[in-house]
Amino acid sequence: MKLLSGKTSIVTGAARGIGAAIAIKLAEQGSNIAFSYVSDNSKEKALALEAELTALGVKAKAYQSNAADFAQCETFVNDVLKEFGTIDVCVNNAGISKDNLLLRMTAEQWDDVMDVNLKSVFNMTKQVIRPMMKAKQGSIINMSSIIGIRGNAGQSSYAASKAGIIGFTKSVAHELGSRNIRCNAIAPGFIETDMTHYLQDGDASAEFLKKIPLGRFGKAEEIANTTLFLASDLSSYITGQVLSACGGLNI
Ligand code: NAI
Repeated sequence: MKLLSGKTSIVTGAARGIGAAIAIKLAEQGSNIAFSYVSDNSKEKALALEAELTALGVKAKAYQSNAADFAQCETFVNDVLKEFGTIDVCVNNAGISKDNLLLRMTAEQWDDVMDVNLKSVFNMTKQVIRPMMKAKQGSIINMSSIIGIRGNAGQSSYAASKAGIIGFTKSVAHELGSRNIRCNAIAPGFIETDMTHYLQDGDASAEFLKKIPLGRFGKAEEIANTTLFLASDLSSYITGQVLSACGGLNI
């Protein structure tokens, strides 16, 4: 028996990187997958992922939807409910970084990061809790970051958005625990994806590696494994927690 047989999971921003790895991992464990991508440029990758997931024997569908836009999230979740019937798991993965020293950061850069990283989590969670309350169960997983815990020079907007996710996650866990809805956050360290490609080579890379006890960057699949744990009943007594998956960078 697979861990998520017959369940339906939503994953935001899943055309590539950690989101795509999560969609594949949950599908391998039997979950139907509805996932979003935002730009026309991602459409080809999104449709390829849809085909890959379907080939795993589950129902899968890509939706073009901007996680930062409240109305689009409402439409997305309603469309998923019409097509799939239920939503058991919601993974709020979509995220961006617009790193800049505070002296140089513009209000527009700040707002963009807040809207995509933090407001998106509100937008989606607000929509999915209704069907979850009806079903008397659900698991919401929010992608925070180790930067949201410890901060980093040049990343004040990113850190603030990811720290905000942690406060939101704990509050939702308090509010909805009695309805058997769990809400947890994952705090990845440095994971090899397009978002961190500029850190993966050269001197910067060597400096980062010295600080990571496991001595390497993480892989998207390792965050997908962490997500699977929080999505499934393996974590049935865990809510309101921040699970660091960072190679020990936080110790
Ligand atoms: P990525 O840049 O490869 O993927 C992010 C995905 O989000 C892309 O597919 C992008 O199109 C999508 N996206 C961006 N804006 C969106 C929007 N408005 N609506 C819907 N989708 C949108 O980055 P990666 O590394 O896969 O990151 C995934 C999540 O993990 C992000 O929330 C990121 O902040 C977080 N994270 C990543 C770490 C890393 O080292 N790569 C470390 C800690 C957290």
